[in-house]
Amino acid sequence: MKIEKIVFATGNAGKVREIPAILADLGLEVVSMKEAGIRVDIEENGSTYEENAMIKSRVVAEALKGAGRQAHTVVMADDSGLEIDYLNREPGIYSARYLGEDTSYRIKNANLISRLDGVPEEERTARFVCAIGAVLPDGRELTSRGVIEGRIGYEERGSNGFGYDPIFYVPEFGCTTAELTEEQKNRVSHRGNALQAMKAQLLEMMNEQEI
Ligand code: IMP
Repeated sequence: MKIEKIVFATGNAGKVREIPAILADLGLEVVSMKEAGIRVDIEENGSTYEENAMIKSRVVAEALKGAGRQAHTVVMADDSGLEIDYLNREPGIYSARYLGEDTSYRIKNANLISRLDGVPEEERTARFVCAIGAVLPDGRELTSRGVIEGRIGYEERGSNGFGYDPIFYVPEFGCTTAELTEEQKNRVSHRGNALQAMKAQLLEMMNEQEI
């Protein structure tokens, strides 16, 4: 299958920075939906990361098709979130909406830390989860998932990354994902892992002979 371009269905500035870097070695043109001139409102009403990722990529694929621009183009979306075990895996798929979409992460992070007040190290386990959903030029759909395990810290640390990164401590690195460089984070993150798995599937599709 001929694939020349990937349109990424996200408006999140943190993701718009990370995703093209992770996909760069495919040698395809990678653009955000904004750069592709697609403006759509998407209601994420799925009950899993995979469902939400597919909802987003389908809406953008339809919009591209409507504009007659879906040829050789893959639409991809990510849905991701932070699961804190002590809080019954909250905020989970509601991570972006937690305490309100427009509430600053200073406030969201402080709130989560205070909800873990007095909780010992070994019970502060958490993970970032990312699902990628893709619609291929012929309408076929693919999904992949990636995870990174860590713990919720006691204070915000670091200013790289975005969202909950300053409170997500990764024991192997001895720091939060906001203290990793973008390259380090992409190598080990949920989004990095999910996109690597998606890349492998896409490469297989690109090697498929057209009949
Ligand atoms: P989505 O756009 O619905 O997938 O929202 C995912 C939300 O999960 C983001 O807005 C962040 O709050 C959180 N999140 C996902 N990935 C990361 C990450 O890599 N670092 C920090 N927060 C993240």
